[in-house]
Formats: sequence, structure tokens, C-alpha cells
Amino acid sequence: MRTELSFAPTAAIATEMLAVFAADTQTAKGSDAKPQPTPLTTDPKIQAAAATVLGTGEYKAGANETVLLHAPAGIAAKRLLIVGLGKLAKATAHAVRDGAGTAVRFAKPRGIREVAVVLPSSEGLRGAAGARAVAEGVFLGDFDPDTYRTDRKDQSIQSFTLSVAGEADRQALVSALAEGAVIGESQNFTRSLVNEPGNKLTPTILGQRAAEMAEEVGLKWEVHSTDKLHELKMGAFWSVSQGSAEPPALIVLRYEPEGVKDGPVLGLVGKGITFDTGGISIKPADSMERMKYDMAGAAAMMGAMRAIALLQPKVRVIAVLCAAENMPSGTAQKPGDVQTAMSGKTIEIINTDAEGRLVLADGLTYARQLGATHLIDAATLTGAISVALGKIMAGAFSNDDAAYGRFESALAVSGEKFWRLPLGDAYADLIKSDIGDIKNTGGRWGGASIAAEFLHVFAEDTPWIHLDIAGTAWVEESRPYIAKGPSGIGVRSILAWVRSYE
Ligand code: BES
Ligand code: MN
Ligand code: ZN
Repeated sequence: MRTELSFAPTAAIATEMLAVFAADTQTAKGSDAKPQPTPLTTDPKIQAAAATVLGTGEYKAGANETVLLHAPAGIAAKRLLIVGLGKLAKATAHAVRDGAGTAVRFAKPRGIREVAVVLPSSEGLRGAAGARAVAEGVFLGDFDPDTYRTDRKDQSIQSFTLSVAGEADRQALVSALAEGAVIGESQNFTRSLVNEPGNKLTPTILGQRAAEMAEEVGLKWEVHSTDKLHELKMGAFWSVSQGSAEPPALIVLRYEPEGVKDGPVLGLVGKGITFDTGGISIKPADSMERMKYDMAGAAAMMGAMRAIALLQPKVRVIAVLCAAENMPSGTAQKPGDVQTAMSGKTIEIINTDAEGRLVLADGLTYARQLGATHLIDAATLTGAISVALGKIMAGAFSNDDAAYGRFESALAVSGEKFWRLPLGDAYADLIKSDIGDIKNTGGRWGGASIAAEFLHVFAEDTPWIHLDIAGTAWVEESRPYIAKGPSGIGVRSILAWVRSYE
């Protein structure tokens, strides 16, 4: 997508479609308080063109509510799309991100390939934060998952212009736009990986995709397989792969900015199960096809590493991604088996479908061994997280309030929704094993916290955050600003968390 910034008067921009945000500026309450949809632009010609429809009462500027004007009088654009942000008093950069996505998703099915978006003029939404949000939203809105349709019409937006007439700090806007594009593209990179079916994206191929990306953006990389797992004594990780004809992949990506020789080393660990059948504890057939998404945690870390390499924060980052296919077969591990993890802890396998925690156990240990001082992992780890939080929020767990505090601040930047859930000894009691140190399941209740507590055994006392994205990595229903399919959740928050250590 060609991306540019225009300082010209907004009404003079010749484009297929110009999108302007509108918000409800009504502050009075009560039944007489009619919505007051107001265009968020200082350009009098755009205001005049929008006035016709905004005065009718048929459009209320609700969040992502749209109305299209053809051949609007007095402006160069062929079409003017008004995109609602809801109440102005409550509108945030996150509403702007969504609104920009809505504009793009309005354009795409109508064959419109050229879009200009007006940076909202109101306080709090203008400037660099608004510009970044618009760019992110445009790129995110442009993604569609139908890559294997033989009759696919590529409706991608080819040209995107951000209109910033009247804004003062040009350099800040230029970098904000570029940054938003990098973040949106990186999140889409994650989404495209998650979208791939299990036959097209094996652990080996995920390793190749990581290597290609690393070469492109200048990260150091290593991709290992079975031999290295044995050498490192990664008995937990290997046990998940042992039932599959596809070899596992241990992917390591390193970001080492020049001149940064001390300070923290951030370890990003991702669950990369390219398909989860459940193994011998096989899953029911219903919706099993969705389990191609079980590498969304690893893919989120790959997207975050891509953005990190391009945005260059001054902090060292290392990603450890554990990719395997969880299959039933004559060589698969069995319930009752005991595995020795890389850390030396022994694990009794109760359910072979609780495989994500097994690969992450060794991933966390390895990241610590490679020098990580702070850890964050992402995984489609439990069905229980959806029971707890629905498909609305993702789960977060941490053994360290300071690290988690930074993550909370990162959420304010990313706009992603995570909710912190508990860890603790009471959960640890549930995974004590009679035959070994721990077992890989702990009963029906509190499954997300039990899984997190299992990981805690391997994170030990290294400050660590665990993200359970099983309920949110896949969007079930399309929304005006985003296609249904892989969401790319985690990329923006992990990136913002990393940047907080800069
Ligand atoms: N990948 C799944 C988590 C999952 C389950 C995501 C259902 C979406 C829907 C994970 O590997 C898994 O199977 N977890 C089990 C753990 C259980 C056996 C303790 C689960 O949540 O059912
Ligand atoms: Mn499973
Ligand atoms: Zn799984």
C-alpha cells in the first residue's frame, strides 16, 4: 500500500474516497438531547459538504457508523465517507484506529482502491497518536483471510493518504505515520501466519517463515529441530512432537541493538503448535479445524519481533518459539508417561491435549538460559480462558507487579484488552503428581490459572507475564473495522511492553 502524508488543504485532495471522522458533541443528557454529529475537521469546505447529511438527523455518528456522499460539492474527492466515533467526550485513539479500519472495509468491496483519511482535528485525537492510530487501522482493515479462493478478487487498498492540514509538528507526523504502518503490517504478518492451515504451515515451514522475516528486517536467527531438542534435553517440548511425522522447530530470533551492552534482556516465548489434534487424548471433531490457529502465540511474537527490528528500541530482545504438531500415532506420548523437562523437573502427562504448557516449559527455561532477565509468553493455552473472559478479553498472569505494571501501560498504547487473573500456591497444589514433580492438568475448575501456574514452575522467579490468547486470537464474526479470522492479538501490546524498557 502506497502511504503518504498530505499537508494540502483537505478539500483539495483528489482521491476516490475521502474519509472524515464525525463525533457526537451533544453533552446534555435526557430525552431531548438529540445527537449532534459534528465533523472532526477544520476545513470549512468539508464541514459544508458534510452539513447536508449531518443536519438531517438520519446519521448519529455512532461508533463505526458510516454515511457516503457522492460527488460532494466544493471538494476534489469523488466520494466523502463520514465515519462515526461515538461521543466526542469518550472518543480515544482506539476509536480512531477502528474508524480508519471501517473506512477501508467500506471501500474494499466497492472496488475503491484509493483512500484518504482526515486526521481528526479535536484535542486528544490529533497529532502523532492520532496519525499512528489511523495508519494502524487502515492496514488492519485491509487484511482479508480468503487467500486460497481461486476466484479471489484482490481488493487491497493501493493508496492511502493521511490528510493533516493545519497540523504543526510535521516531523512527528511523518514518523507516526511510518510507525503505524509498520505496526499494522507486522500485525497483519502475524494474522497471515495464523490463517495458514496445518498442511501449509508445518513447524518446519514456520521456521522458514521466521528466517525469511528475520533476513528481511535484520534480526539474527537460528532454527533447530529434533537433534537440538535432544541436545538441550528438552524432554517436555520433544514429547509433544514425538507423535508427528513433522519434525519440531525451535526458532530463536535475536534483536541486539548496537551499543546496548547492559540493561535488561527481554525474552519473548511463543506457543507454536501448528495443529493441535489433542494427541492420544484426542479432541472431538467439532471445530477441530480451528486448531490450525494454535501457533498464534508464536506468530504474535514473530510479528512483534518484526516491528521491533524496524522500530529499533534500545533494548535487547530474544524470542524463543516452540513449534510442533500435536498428533496421535504409534509413536505419540501417552497419558501416564513421565517426561523430564529441560529444567530437570519431571512431568506426569495426564492429558496429551495439555501440550502447550509442555512446549512452553522448555521454551521458558531456554529463554532464561539464553540470558533473558524478563519474560513474556503468549499462547492459545486453554479453553478455560474463554469461559472466564469470553471472546472479549484475553487473560494475563504475572509473578511480578512491576513487569505487569509496564504491561498495563502498554495496553493503554495498544488498545488491546487483557485482564489479569490469579496465580498462586493454591493452584500449584492442584498439579502435584504422585509419581513425579508435577502433572500437566489439575482438574476442571480454574483451568486458565492452573495452566499459568504450570508455566510459573519454569519461569521461576524471573519477572514474567503470561498471555492466554485462546479466546481472542480468532475473530468469530467480522466487525466493520476488521475481518473475521485471525486477530493478531498481542503484537501491539508486546511491542509497547518491549518499548517501555527502552
Ligand atoms: N490449544 C488448546 C486450547 C484451546 C482449547 C483453544 C479449546 C481453543 C479452544 C490447548 O492445547 C488445549 O487443548 N487445552 C486443554 C487443556 C486441558 C486438557 C487441561 C483445554 O483447554 O481443554
Ligand atoms: Mn491441546
Ligand atoms: Zn493447544
